[in-house]
Amino acid sequence: MPNQSSHPLEEENRASRTIDPCIVVIFGATGDLTGRKLAPALYNLGKDGMLPANFATVGFARREKSHQEFRDELKEDINSYSRVKPIDEPFWKNFQEQIFYHRSEFDDDAGYAALHDFLETLDSRFATRGNRIFYLSVQPKFFPLIIEKLRKAGLIYDHKTTGPWSRVIIEKPFGHDSESANALQQEISKYLDESQTYRIDHYLGKETVQNLLVFRFANSIFESLWNYKHIDHVQITVAEDIGIGTRGHFFEEEGLLRDVVQNHMMQLLSLVAMEPPVSLSASAIRDEKVKVLQSIRPLSPDDFKNHVIRGQYGPGYINGKDVIGYSQEKDVNPKSHVETYLALRLFIDNWRWAGVPFYLRGGKRLPKRGSEIAIIFKDAPGVLFQQRDKHNDPNILAIRIQPDEGISLKINCKVPGPSSPIQPVKMDFRYGSYFGQSPPEAYERLIWDCILGDSTLFARADEVTQSWQIYTPLLEFWASQAPSDFPNYAAGSWGPKQSDEMMAKDHRAWRLL
Ligand code: BG6
Repeated sequence: MPNQSSHPLEEENRASRTIDPCIVVIFGATGDLTGRKLAPALYNLGKDGMLPANFATVGFARREKSHQEFRDELKEDINSYSRVKPIDEPFWKNFQEQIFYHRSEFDDDAGYAALHDFLETLDSRFATRGNRIFYLSVQPKFFPLIIEKLRKAGLIYDHKTTGPWSRVIIEKPFGHDSESANALQQEISKYLDESQTYRIDHYLGKETVQNLLVFRFANSIFESLWNYKHIDHVQITVAEDIGIGTRGHFFEEEGLLRDVVQNHMMQLLSLVAMEPPVSLSASAIRDEKVKVLQSIRPLSPDDFKNHVIRGQYGPGYINGKDVIGYSQEKDVNPKSHVETYLALRLFIDNWRWAGVPFYLRGGKRLPKRGSEIAIIFKDAPGVLFQQRDKHNDPNILAIRIQPDEGISLKINCKVPGPSSPIQPVKMDFRYGSYFGQSPPEAYERLIWDCILGDSTLFARADEVTQSWQIYTPLLEFWASQAPSDFPNYAAGSWGPKQSDEMMAKDHRAWRLL
C-alpha cells in the first residue's frame, strides 16, 4: 500500500495510529469468501508489513479439519486468488504458523467455551493481549446467534476506551427489507455497541471509492460546479459480465436489488451527492451520507411502473462463449421471478440536487465488467459553436471505479486544420499508469481499518436502515406483481430494451462503457 501511516479518510484525532496486537477469528472459515477474499487479504497485509507483529488468525467452522489442513487449503486459495502470485514460500512458511482452525457448530455453547480457552492460549503464545476481531462470513440468519453466543462466552467485552477490545465485522446482506434490518439491529445491539460493529460494504474499501471524497473536497475546481445549476444528470453503473455462478440459492433469496443496489450502489450515490462533512471523523462523514439517503424522494407507484426496470438474463453469448439463462442456472427455480438487472431513476430533494435525476443501473451477464459514476454537465448555451456544429457533446466527468481505475473528463476541442470542426476529446487519469501499481484489494483496507478501530469505511446502522426504507415499498410492489416477460434480455446484451426506453423518454441515453 502506498502510505502505511495514514489514508485520507482515516478518523481524525485518533490517539495514535499504532496497531494493536490482535487475533482475527473468521466464522465461516471454509466458505467461498474466506478463500477468495479474506485469506488473500490477510496474506497481502502480512506481506506488506501491515499486520501487527503479534497476530494470529483462527478459522471457525463446522467441518472437521486439522490446523495444517486448514493452512494448506488457504495456501491453495491464496495461490489462486491473491493479487500477488505465486505465494512467497519463505514468507508463508512463517505466516502459516499463526493460522489455526477451531471446529464447532454455531449454536454449541461448548464450542464457544473451547474457543475462549483456545484464544487465551494464543494470547500467551503470541502476546495478542485479549484483542479480538470476529469476522462473520456466514449466512445472515446466523448473525444474531453467533453474536449472542460470543457475548455469553465472554468473548465480546463491554465497549471501553482502554484495555482489550473486541470488534465484530458483519458481512452483507444486513437484513432483507426495512423490518428485518431493524429487527436484526435490535437483536445485535443487545450484545454489541455500535462502536464495535463493523458492517462491511466492500465497495467502500475500493481505492477509487475512497478517492471520491478526496476528489470532491481536496480540489477547488469541481465543488462549485457540483449542483443542479451545472449538472444535467448523474449515471451510476455497476455492470458485471459474470452470471450467478454457484450462488443460485443465495441469489434466489436476494436478487440484484438486495445484492448490489441497496448497498454498493447507494454507497456510491451517497458519496457523490453528500455535502462536505464538518470533519473527517467517521461520524461526520456518515452523518452527511445519511442526510443524502434521507433526502431521496420516495419512489411512487408511477415510478415503480415507469422509472424502475427490472430484468432477468436469458441464454446468450458472452466473451466468446454460449451461456445459459438465469433460470437454467444451478439451484434456481426454472420459473424464477428474481431480477438480475435493475435500472432506476431517483431524485434527491435537497437544495444542491433539486431536479437532477440520478440514474442507476446494475446487472449480471452484461457485455463487460465495469463500474463507473458519470457526471453529465449541462449543455453550453446554444450560441456560437453550438449553432454551427452538431458534434458538441456535453462535458462528462467519468469516475471509473473498476476496472482500469481512473478519472476522465470529456471536453470539446478544435480539430487541427482550417475547416475547424469540433470534436470531443478526453483528459484521462489512470491510477495504474500514474502510480505504477494496481490498488490494493478492498478487503485489505477494510480489515486493516477494523484492526485500527476506524469505522469510517463501514456502514453505520442508520445508513443501512435508511437505504432499506427507500427500497422496501418497491420490493413489496414487486412481490405483488410478478414480471410477465422474464427473461427479458439476452446474456451479453446491455439489459432489457425498456431500460433504454426509460432514458429515451427523458431525452437521455445510457453511456457506452
Ligand atoms: C458482491 C455481490 O457484494 O459484490 C456480488 O454479492 C457481486 O454478486 C460483487 O458480484 C461485485 O463486487 P466487485 O468488487 O466484483 O464489483
